[in-house]
Amino acid sequence: MSPVPNRIDRMPEPSKFFLTTPIFYVNDAPHIGHAYTEVAADVLARWHRQAGDDTWFLTGTDEHGQKILRTATANGVAPKEWADRLVESAWKPLLDTIDISNDDFIRTTDARHEAGVAKFLQKLYDEGHVYAGEFEALYCVGCEEFKPKSEIVDGTGAFAGEKVCAIHSKPLELLQEKNYFFKMSAFQDRLLALFEERPDFVQPASARNEVIAFVQQGLEDLSISRTSFDWGIPIPWDSSHVTYVWFDALLNYVTAIGYGSDDPEAAARFARRWPGNHLVGKDILRFHAVIWPAMLMAAGLEVPEHVFAHGWLLVGGEKMSKSKLTGIAPNEITDTFGSDAFRYYFMRAISFGHDGSFSWEDLAARYQAELANGFGNLASRVLAMNAKYFDGVMPEGAHDPTPSPSDASISELAQRVAVAADERIGAFAIHEAIAEIWQLVDALNGYITEQEPWVLAKDPAKRERLGAVLATATEGLRALAELLHPVIPLATAKLWAALGAEGALGALGSRSIRAAGEWGRLPAGTPQHPLEVLFPRIEMEAAAK
Ligand code: MSP
Repeated sequence: MSPVPNRIDRMPEPSKFFLTTPIFYVNDAPHIGHAYTEVAADVLARWHRQAGDDTWFLTGTDEHGQKILRTATANGVAPKEWADRLVESAWKPLLDTIDISNDDFIRTTDARHEAGVAKFLQKLYDEGHVYAGEFEALYCVGCEEFKPKSEIVDGTGAFAGEKVCAIHSKPLELLQEKNYFFKMSAFQDRLLALFEERPDFVQPASARNEVIAFVQQGLEDLSISRTSFDWGIPIPWDSSHVTYVWFDALLNYVTAIGYGSDDPEAAARFARRWPGNHLVGKDILRFHAVIWPAMLMAAGLEVPEHVFAHGWLLVGGEKMSKSKLTGIAPNEITDTFGSDAFRYYFMRAISFGHDGSFSWEDLAARYQAELANGFGNLASRVLAMNAKYFDGVMPEGAHDPTPSPSDASISELAQRVAVAADERIGAFAIHEAIAEIWQLVDALNGYITEQEPWVLAKDPAKRERLGAVLATATEGLRALAELLHPVIPLATAKLWAALGAEGALGALGSRSIRAAGEWGRLPAGTPQHPLEVLFPRIEMEAAAK
């Protein structure tokens, strides 16, 4: 049989990748729905970084507007003080709880942001995209949006007889104000042309269809200022108005990377990073796929590369939310299962782009079957056999130019899944990328069962074969550590340390993920170390809260 190629010939060239999460309202502490967006973005960012792409991952907080003002007032503090408190006590700590590797954290109260927003608005005003007008419409403070007819429904129960928001089920407020308007309607045709020319601009396809249908109905101009309260960024030419909170918030994606600054270094950063990729929940798709590109077109800036809308975590068939008292705090899960399990579970169990229901039973079952038994046991068995039969070093055998068909099928699979997973990540299909990689976990478990190294070990004549089997399995672990690092960073780091790979191959995070399927990387003789338990047994009463 022909030698197994150990190089991947067509590896994508490194490129640039700027990724954002939505910025989160600081009216309350995060629940697992917010953490879900963060984890998905983090897996993508870590993957691209490990692939050598020029990656920048931005997250942050949305701090202006009526919703925050009302919460702060109800708690007897000034809005900025409230925002500071929530950012420090809840939103920044969330990033540690679930191991988020963001490069920057923007707050809409940062001076860099406020200056950039003022600059952007002034430009649009000077160039004739903004006019003053009167307005009367139904507003949802939960959404911070004047609601389109399609999202206004009749209230029930305590709100019977009132018009309520279809998302929040809370009464809408009739607002009548003198506002400034952005001439968004002028961009309808250009937006439709954009969706046509770039079919992957809005993803997945269901989200794209929804956005196209919305724009085809006809776009209205957008009210972009408010006068009835002052918690916001003043309109630069008329300080009796503050900027509409969504118009302010969307601009974080460019102010964070240098837009609007006079510093030449900031301008260079902006040129290097923009355009970006936005990950958003489907409830805020329209802001990102319609309003935001129209704003950018008006300012003469490039539109984003992609807008990807993910689904909701549901409880009882409805979007999990704090206001409906269905929110679960992320640490309720991580305290018991750890952050890796949190990350793995949500990325694996829910098709990215669709809604999914969280259940403690499903989490506990996947933890046990996939992480502890599937991956954790595989690693501990292989390393224990290396310790027992080869004095704890990497055996000879993974460099054999004419491997047996069973060994070759493992190395070929590693190459295949590495390429396929990279392609799936490029299409934002995180769950499919993990499923690709998991084929290697399952195949390696099957391989060990079939090859029975413990039987080979009893016969000194089969010593060479024993080495080849364990070397193949160990190379498989090396590839898995590299491929799974973006998803389960802590467990893979422990595995990397136990493989002795740090000394032989360098830091795990710097290993090219697109080359993870290349075989025979870990040198024979590399000393290994005891493996910490990757996914400890969990008492099921703790899990079945
Ligand atoms: N501040 C705005 C976003 C401005 S971006 C320029 C906002 N904030 S939010 O805190 O309400 O929501 C932030 C993100 O969390 C949204 O993408 C939203 O879809 C997501 N999620 C909130 N609840 C969720 C679930 N139950 N499930 C999945 N994601 C959810 O909107």
